[in-house]
Amino acid sequence: MSIIEESNKRRTFAIISHPDAGKTTLTEKFLLFAGAIQTAGAVKSNKIKKNTISDFMEIERQRGISVTTAVMSFEYKDLKINLLDTPGHKDFAEDTYRTLTAVDSVILVVDSVKGVEEQTEKLMNVCRMRKTPVIIFVNKLDREGGDLLSLLDELEKKLDINVCPLSWPISRGTSFKGVYSIHNRNLHIFKPNMTHMDEDVVAVSDLNSKLLDENIGTHHALQLRNDVALFDECYGSFEKTRYLAGELAPVFFGSALNNFGVKELLETFVEISPTPQNRMSDCRMVNPDEDAFSGFVFKIHANLDMRHRDRIAFLRVCSGKFERSKFYKHVRLNTNLRFNSPASFMGQKKSIIDEAYPGDVVGLYDRQSFKIGDTLTEGENIMFQGIPNFSPEIFKELISTSMKAKQLEKGIKQLTDEGVAQLFIMKNGGRKVIGTVGQLQFEVIQYRLANEYGAECRFEPLNFYKACWITSENQKQLNDFCSYKSDRIGYDKNGDLVFFSESEWILNHYIKDYPEIEFHFTTEFKLSNND
Ligand code: G4P
Repeated sequence: MSIIEESNKRRTFAIISHPDAGKTTLTEKFLLFAGAIQTAGAVKSNKIKKNTISDFMEIERQRGISVTTAVMSFEYKDLKINLLDTPGHKDFAEDTYRTLTAVDSVILVVDSVKGVEEQTEKLMNVCRMRKTPVIIFVNKLDREGGDLLSLLDELEKKLDINVCPLSWPISRGTSFKGVYSIHNRNLHIFKPNMTHMDEDVVAVSDLNSKLLDENIGTHHALQLRNDVALFDECYGSFEKTRYLAGELAPVFFGSALNNFGVKELLETFVEISPTPQNRMSDCRMVNPDEDAFSGFVFKIHANLDMRHRDRIAFLRVCSGKFERSKFYKHVRLNTNLRFNSPASFMGQKKSIIDEAYPGDVVGLYDRQSFKIGDTLTEGENIMFQGIPNFSPEIFKELISTSMKAKQLEKGIKQLTDEGVAQLFIMKNGGRKVIGTVGQLQFEVIQYRLANEYGAECRFEPLNFYKACWITSENQKQLNDFCSYKSDRIGYDKNGDLVFFSESEWILNHYIKDYPEIEFHFTTEFKLSNND
């Protein structure tokens, strides 16, 4: 098969949600449905339930040794589906944001009882920024909750995207009857605690048909007719091109726990979701069907089992064919590397592969030669763009408490290369500032520095509200600002200028006072020249 044929067979996506909305349950149902696993309960939740370092370490240790790592692939209807795993804990949200750079589309799970939650909004912001096509699955229809037309409204407003329901639920909670598929014009009848995946489906091409009344009762049939008429007017019909452009999100309803709505979701996903897409490099757009191989590292998984110290770098293939034991250029290090045991992940099994194609994710055993965003090619000097850093939310000064300064340097460099946290160096005095999105990461850093590098440290809280990357065409204004706020200016790992604001109010004040300075909340601005 040619590269383009192989590429067209792939669908690479992630399931994302606010914790507890049902991401793990839906992932498992997809794998069960595709026959990639045989028993429920096989997909380990990567949720850190106790919010403690020991819980995190235990999960990481298990993940390192056996179960899923970054991707679970399965075959469905002659397609190879690569489902990228994302962390279940909000403190590791940046890991999820990075994973989103390696997918071509996402399924966003929303809890129908809780509606749009904090993490749902943040994840959607990242999708919107990258124009990633999104399908929304509204879950837990078996539970009582609010009005679903209002939920559609909430989705549009809070997620800032046009939505288009492709199915519509008939009541909810204890009186939940099922969903009507607007897309396929049929009725899916709900039965609680369904163990099999096949639902009872009745073809109802005309909503005025008596079949509807017979199956769900006159009261619910009437309600459904009214609802569909109402939102036909409000939401219009589904346009695939707008979905693919990231402008319109089709919405499905169901209950992952009860296997309900999962089949329809998966079938529509394979029908409409995008094939591997073009990727921007610093020099040019790279197309998946090019002969020459290229790919980038979007995630590094440290093995916390001390007996196996290797890390695994996860590489997304962007073009051409990746081959085992062939030399490839590590562009940043300007060196050639080859990989004798590249891994792929079918279902939950890890196996060595001989080749991989665009859209595939390959696990490369690594002895610390990779950092997030590194590019491999067949020789061309290109670096893939689009692995931005996001403004962290918590900042602390890193203070060494042992004499092992070199180990600390090395450890912190490697942990930040892995993307565990961001390191900034203050302009005045060269203090080291660690920025994360969650408290738990500081404990992870402290633990790993001590255990893997023998370097003890402590953290001093800092009164920083946000880190913004600052740029300006007016060098004088930028210099003036940096001198005026010199104790709040630092550099990131790439030497880019960063301003640490003390509060939102102060930040807004400076944004107004220094109109020629641009304050960026992600490093995505570095890519805008290529857009
Ligand atoms: P997450 O990965 O998004 O964090 O969510 P997860 O799938 O772990 O689901 C969170 C909880 O919601 C789980 O219950 C799960 O069983 C439940 N759940 C998922 N889908 C549905 C659904 O359609 N209906 C209902 N009623 N519940 C659903 P838990 O008690 O927290 O965990 P567990 O002990 O069952 O694993």
